[in-house]
Amino acid sequence: MGNYNDFAAEYAEKTKLLEQKSRNHYYSHLPLILNNKKILDVGCGSGQDAVYYSKRGAKVYGIDISEKEIEMAQNLGVGHFVVGTMNKLPYDSDSFDYVTSFYALQASNNIEQTISEMIRVTKSRGTILIQTKHPFRNLIEGWKNNNKMDYYSPGNVTSHILNKTITLNEPSHTVMEYLSSTILSKVRLMSFEEHSDFPASEEIVSGLVYPTYLILKFHKL
Ligand SMILES: C[S@@+](CC[C@H](N)C(=O)[O-])C[C@H]1O[C@@H](n2cnc3c(N)ncnc32)[C@H](O)[C@@H]1O
Repeated sequence: MGNYNDFAAEYAEKTKLLEQKSRNHYYSHLPLILNNKKILDVGCGSGQDAVYYSKRGAKVYGIDISEKEIEMAQNLGVGHFVVGTMNKLPYDSDSFDYVTSFYALQASNNIEQTISEMIRVTKSRGTILIQTKHPFRNLIEGWKNNNKMDYYSPGNVTSHILNKTITLNEPSHTVMEYLSSTILSKVRLMSFEEHSDFPASEEIVSGLVYPTYLILKFHKL
């Protein structure tokens, strides 16, 4: 797994503008006014989305495994941030109106467990919104960087991002891990989107266009 403690400030600085287009797709799935809504951001990093949610009136909570990222988020003074893992969220069930995660779930070693935890802490009829690395990007990067030839086999994939200044090693995933029958038994799938405008990845094959991230929106039943 990539250790964001090693490059937290560099990552925040370099992605601020680069990711704006994909963040706008993501934000378009949320209401503009979030007054008094409780939002948990999973893999919150340095708190970029927390700032956005707080400006719209939300009560913001965030969790991230990196102490350095959480320190940066805490310094913003916009919410309650804790160090912890996305596989075991330290919150009561049915606590949040919205549970979100921007480009962090790909780091999970158990997608079904992570999403089940996100669903557990969401209130009934609340929203779960996820932007994550597209598994096809894993397939292509795994083939190029790790000689990994099988989409379905588990294993780590190396990504060189931001003009190869940062290297990540994260588990590969399949699309069906995000949409398993266990997950779909607890939620209604409201949106499934694939986009190619996330720019933080190296160009793998010149001219090859493929989805680099996906967006999932669920309503808890
Ligand atoms: C690409 S960054 C995105 C951060 C933030 N959501 C943003 O948009 O700036 C991925 C984040 O996931 C965090 N992360 C990785 N594995 C995690 C885990 N098991 N539990 C919680 N956070 C994790 C990393 O520390 C990192 O901050």
